[in-house]
Amino acid sequence: MQTVHDAPALRAAIRGWRGNGQTVGFVPTMGNLHVGHQSLIKLARARADRVVASVFVNPTQFAPGEDFERYPRTLVPDQAALTDEGCDLLFAPDVATMYPFGAQHSVTLRVPQITEVLEGASRPGHFDGVATVVCKLFNLVQPDLAVFGQKDFQQLKVIERLVRDLSLPIKILAAATLRADDGLALSSRNQYLSADERAQAPLVHDTLLKMRELLHKGHAWPVIEQVSSSRLRRAGFVPDYAVIRRAGDLSAPAEGEREGLVGLIAARLGSTRLIDNLRLD
Ligand code: PAF
Repeated sequence: MQTVHDAPALRAAIRGWRGNGQTVGFVPTMGNLHVGHQSLIKLARARADRVVASVFVNPTQFAPGEDFERYPRTLVPDQAALTDEGCDLLFAPDVATMYPFGAQHSVTLRVPQITEVLEGASRPGHFDGVATVVCKLFNLVQPDLAVFGQKDFQQLKVIERLVRDLSLPIKILAAATLRADDGLALSSRNQYLSADERAQAPLVHDTLLKMRELLHKGHAWPVIEQVSSSRLRRAGFVPDYAVIRRAGDLSAPAEGEREGLVGLIAARLGSTRLIDNLRLD
């Protein structure tokens, strides 16, 4: 696998493949790859002739005080993991390459409505940073398809809207969330958890399962939301939200609505913020 750090080298490699009529699949990441990321590469590998991954810890999607500085940067093991998965090309730019006028002075994309709730409400500006960097990466790579994990469900919806609204000729594929045996969704941030917190963390997934059970038993969704938040709080979590929403646009369901719903949780455990979601149908 080749690693490139700038746009001309990236474009040169991809131009060769395009010239041979090959399709390109793209997996954007912030690195510190785990088996969840590897499953995204596998999906791209299965659907495209060539696979490009990017590793870039994007400063514009972190608010002041978030974990931008301590976010794990592990390029060498990431290269090994990508090579093992048969990734063809890694794009690992620095901040100046992605933001030639500086991260603070970049053209910024805003996807309205869907970014204003849940993660967008808890982390103002986060999705502007995600939309901006993903659009920049799409412009650089110009893939036929791109793969995103369902674990970041709202992010996936934001990218789907971005692509549709800007008429980008890129197919977005959603990869299922990978979990540890105890149900905890795999995430680079899990390594921030202490041993005690790690033992508590599966309660997030367990609460999503409980949400689904209660919904199927006919309980009203606002009641389920309250029960879920209380359950997390009693176990020492500080929930940002534990909600049931329409999977299509994350709006609140009508009374008695049961189809096409998703449960979404974001909760702090110590200094770690965990997010997860589950389709409830
Ligand atoms: O999901 C992530 O790792 C990031 O938000 C992404 C899509 C790579 C943009 O920086």
